[in-house]
Amino acid sequence: MTASHPAEVAAQYATEQHLRTRINTHLRYTVGPDLEASFDGLLALTGRETVLDVGTGPGEFPGRLRAQGHQGRLVGVDLSAGMVEQASAHQPGVEFVQASADALPFADATFDVVTARHMLYHVPDVSAALKEFRRVLKPGGQFLCVTNASTYMAELWAVVAEAALLEPSSEAVWATRVGYATAFSELNGEALVQAAFGNVSVSFLQSALVFPDSQPVLTYLESLPAWHHLSAPQQERARAAVGQVLEPLLQVGGWQVSKTLVFLAAKNNF
Ligand SMILES: C[S@@+](CC[C@H](N)C(=O)[O-])C[C@H]1O[C@@H](n2cnc3c(N)ncnc32)[C@H](O)[C@@H]1O
Repeated sequence: MTASHPAEVAAQYATEQHLRTRINTHLRYTVGPDLEASFDGLLALTGRETVLDVGTGPGEFPGRLRAQGHQGRLVGVDLSAGMVEQASAHQPGVEFVQASADALPFADATFDVVTARHMLYHVPDVSAALKEFRRVLKPGGQFLCVTNASTYMAELWAVVAEAALLEPSSEAVWATRVGYATAFSELNGEALVQAAFGNVSVSFLQSALVFPDSQPVLTYLESLPAWHHLSAPQQERARAAVGQVLEPLLQVGGWQVSKTLVFLAAKNNF
């Protein structure tokens, strides 16, 4: 099962607006170890590799590598024309190409490294995408992806589930979480990567969001695709229901929502 229908993925990522809301929420409210440091630690780049980042969104990962002095070729691919346009305008020194993960417009054995950050849960056929990643990797090349664990932000989803008892239309927002957990997480990711590459190594990163009040929680929920399926009155009632459930949880010091990320790495040994 994928987290969302292709048309919904296209609508959600037509521009970076909704993704930017979530990125900003994580930047502002995360406590604990940093995703970027962990990702860099696992990749251990020398700076000379040719790197392909699939589902690159606004291209901040390859853009950061270039800004930090990476010398090798950097390419970002995204399905969304809007994202490619945005990334091309803001990330100098990186090539951006509009393409789908399961049909990459590159010759066999082009890249030393392929990365896929928070995107495989959107891909309808993950095995086909992983096969493509392996095809464009050079022998000995490295694949690394990061995705959400099935327990990701469980406290938030428990609140949404409880709010759905007060406002049944918000059940559709909760259903988003079910899709993400089953699409690509630690539950199935290890077997999929193992099947594609013949090897896999799995690691986890635990951190948390600490919210000082209900507003950033609501802003986050309002950025999710399922929220946009609710009518304006349903959104109003869902907001009130979430606010009501959150109220007793927002203790002094903030409300903590745990985040577990999963890293899956593999070598192209073929
Ligand atoms: C959650 S965003 C992640 C963006 C970026 N990697 C990051 O970590 O900030 C998912 C991105 O994957 C892209 N995407 C979804 N399905 C895709 C596919 N089949 N092929 C390529 N990109 C895809 C979306 O357009 C979106 O930009």
